Amino acid sequence: MIKHARLALPLAVAMAGSALASGVAADEVNLYSARHYDSDEALYQAFTEETGIEVNVLEGDSDQLIERIQREGVASPADVMITVDAGRLWRAEQEGIFQGIESEMLAERLPESMRHPEGKWFGFSQRARAIFYNPETIDPSQLSSYEDLADPAFEGQVCIRSSNNIYNQSLLASLIAHHGEEEAEAWAQGVVDNMARDPEGGDTDQIRGVASGECDIAVANHYYYVRLLKSDDAADREVAESVEILFPNQDGRGTHVNVGGAGVVEGAPNEENAIRFLEFLASDQAQELFAAGNYEFPVVEGVAKDEVLESWGDFKKDELNVSELGENNPEAVRIFDRVGWR
Ligand SMILES: [Fe+2]
Repeated sequence: MIKHARLALPLAVAMAGSALASGVAADEVNLYSARHYDSDEALYQAFTEETGIEVNVLEGDSDQLIERIQREGVASPADVMITVDAGRLWRAEQEGIFQGIESEMLAERLPESMRHPEGKWFGFSQRARAIFYNPETIDPSQLSSYEDLADPAFEGQVCIRSSNNIYNQSLLASLIAHHGEEEAEAWAQGVVDNMARDPEGGDTDQIRGVASGECDIAVANHYYYVRLLKSDDAADREVAESVEILFPNQDGRGTHVNVGGAGVVEGAPNEENAIRFLEFLASDQAQELFAAGNYEFPVVEGVAKDEVLESWGDFKKDELNVSELGENNPEAVRIFDRVGWR
């Protein structure tokens, strides 16, 4: 059985019935997860079936979980923390949440760009930051890269969310890594100059902006588009069908991708089980489930993808190690501030 708890519950309730509550070590693993997809349940069940290790889940947002682990200190039952975006994984790492682990299996199965250099966390799914456009107003031969978003030719045409969002911070962090700070700042300024409106809403709202005609170009993670495409609401499907998706920088470094990932918590009471859990996440079966929950890309080669993702075929992904996205995060935030990207 999987025990679920929301972060609002006191720990005694959250972990009620678990051996931890009575202080006895048992075959279990405690996950602190900032992911909450329906498919996660199946994932945990499969792990328990394979290993006999019970999974206890505490859900919350990334910053809450970090705070919680810090507050609990050495008494924390946390074994594994799962979250999304390299920027957030980096933040957790900076706060000393993760311990480095060694696993031959993870080293073999996961590409190098999906592993923290000291084994502090691992990426298990990928999301692409894609460009969306109105095919009736935009000539795709003029638009193929993130750099093009700053082209004065697109003045007043770009919809992109605010800079306090980690997805944009990580995108700018990738531009800093590839071009240096000065060029990255010029790019950010160029995008601000091209904005169709002051940043508002989430990624889905940017795609909707293209469909409604408020802008001609938008930036959003690919899965928001897939959600619209598969929505039960016909109006949502119409939105998705009226815009085109493109994967930027195919002639160069590849499309900026980010990760959903996890690491073993420093001082984890069930460290061995925690490592087994991470290794399980790299198995074919788990990779399929982990990625499917949010229409993400599995990171292990040859694992089946969602049919929409499959239909896009292969595209080139930026292989920048995702830990660089975290390292460049503070500079990205400063640049956004300087150029007035709200
Ligand atoms: Fe998201």
